[in-house]
Amino acid sequence: MTTFQWNDSLLTGNALIDSEHKELVKAINAFFDACARKIDGDEFQKILNFLNSYTIKHFSDEEQLQVKYKYPDYEKHKKFHETYKETVRKLMHEFIMKGINDELITRARHDIGEVIVTHIKTEDRRLATHIKSME
Ligand SMILES: [Fe+2]
Repeated sequence: MTTFQWNDSLLTGNALIDSEHKELVKAINAFFDACARKIDGDEFQKILNFLNSYTIKHFSDEEQLQVKYKYPDYEKHKKFHETYKETVRKLMHEFIMKGINDELITRARHDIGEVIVTHIKTEDRRLATHIKSME
């Protein structure tokens, strides 16, 4: 099973955002890796909890930057964060309830993996450009 690799096309140019994105990608990869290796029990729960809590932390840090730099698209960006957090939370719950299965993994690849890559490459890059222009 291929996990998605960090590469420079994911850089936004903002040091804090980029370092947190690297952590987030690591957490997502750890999750897919655990799925591939069919890890369950406490270890799996730990990986899910970390992904969930790191997503919350990272989004909160990004939102604080947006407030600080008076980002005009704050509402729209925050809305995406809320939806994504809810998706992660629900999917993690499903993994716990149903166990690791291909249907859930496929859904997670799109809803957690691909969706965040697209968000980073578009919305987060726009945010970084805005911050730079305000400094
Ligand atoms: Fe974001």
